[in-house]
Amino acid sequence: MLQNRKSDPAKLASDIAQWLDRPLVLVGLMGVGKSTVGRRLAADLGISFVDADEEIVAAAQMSIAEIFERFGEPYFRDGERRVISRLIDGTPRVIATGGGAFMNDETRALIMNGAIAIWLDADLATLVERVGRRNTRPLLRNGDPAEVLARLAEVRNPVYAQAHIHVRSKDGPHHRTVLTILEALARWHG
Ligand code: S3P
Repeated sequence: MLQNRKSDPAKLASDIAQWLDRPLVLVGLMGVGKSTVGRRLAADLGISFVDADEEIVAAAQMSIAEIFERFGEPYFRDGERRVISRLIDGTPRVIATGGGAFMNDETRALIMNGAIAIWLDADLATLVERVGRRNTRPLLRNGDPAEVLARLAEVRNPVYAQAHIHVRSKDGPHHRTVLTILEALARWHG
């Protein structure tokens, strides 16, 4: 049976790399694994990976927490939009965005028009466990991370749902999530 056959990840990736003509942009909540999965996805496709948050930090020469503290969130969102706009230039690459990027109307329009948006999604318990590993996120510093994430999920999930593709991040090895993304991309392309 054709549909019961296991996907060959290398074949899937090389087929996708043939038709891919724009960036893949990973969106979704903090802790879902956009950077880790994105880096691996890019390697499988043989294209470059860029972390938008890292680009903002490099351009501003300060940490995200510092940008929030000294200049406020709107300033950060503006930098985020500019960085993402520069990265969406028709070149196929994988871009991991910060969790709030897709919530900005202009940034979302840039992504939807010039890239393929992939919503990486996981259940709350998984996100809470993963964000507990580092304390660098300004939005999680005031309050219980589980409550903050639950509130953000409520507000943001309907917007993330506008992404072209929705993939649930699995527990366990990231290569399984990468394979799910490759399969979803192949289906999306038809
Ligand atoms: C944010 C997510 C962070 C970072 C900033 C704000 C958000 O990125 O951009 O702290 O609004 O959800 P990650 O999703 O990579 O943690």
